[in-house]
Amino acid sequence: MDGIDSALFDSPVMVRRLLPGDLEAALEIDREVFGGYDPAIFQAFCEYHGGSSLVAEVNGILAGFVLGFKHTPFEGRVFWLAVRPTFQSRSIGMRLMLEVLRVFRQMGALSSTLEVRVSNKKAQSLYSLLGFRMIGIIPSYYSDGEAAIIMKMRL
Ligand SMILES: CC(C)(COP(=O)(O)OP(=O)(O)OC[C@H]1O[C@@H](n2cnc3c(N)ncnc32)[C@H](O)[C@@H]1OP(=O)(O)O)[C@@H](O)C(=O)NCCC(=O)NCCS
Repeated sequence: MDGIDSALFDSPVMVRRLLPGDLEAALEIDREVFGGYDPAIFQAFCEYHGGSSLVAEVNGILAGFVLGFKHTPFEGRVFWLAVRPTFQSRSIGMRLMLEVLRVFRQMGALSSTLEVRVSNKKAQSLYSLLGFRMIGIIPSYYSDGEAAIIMKMRL
């Protein structure tokens, strides 16, 4: 780790709402983690689900984001969570999740749900730590044929 990297590593993480000016950097992170989502999706979350779409910033650099929305009046759905690879494993994903769950609660949600690839053990362990439990599995959910685990937690 060089000087700049170590300075960034020690910098505080700020979580705030996703803004239109973040879209370029969010898309860059999405590409880095092979999300491959349509830019229009980010635009739509910014426009329609701004309160539950959040970013984590470290020294002005976008380190990660979570896109959430109110799926039903009582359920908050986590659509997509991603942390820039160079910023992973320093609890930024955890911070973003804790904050979006807090927002869901404030919006009146009683539970939260999400889907995760069966192979994505890191995300699964993060969600389990937060209290999510597996409630089902959808075979061939993703475009490459992989199954999704459906997880849910009470808020
Ligand atoms: C999944 C992802 C968002 C996690 O982000 P992250 O910032 O690296 O996650 P965190 O550091 O908050 O937590 C995950 C790790 O810390 C552990 N962890 C976090 N907080 C912890 C705590 N308080 N106590 C113990 N363990 C903790 C997790 O088990 C996991 O372990 P690891 O990093 O040693 O493998 C990130 O890896 C990513 O962007 N992956 C690609 C996209 C993706 O898979 N998104 C999820 C789609 S469902």
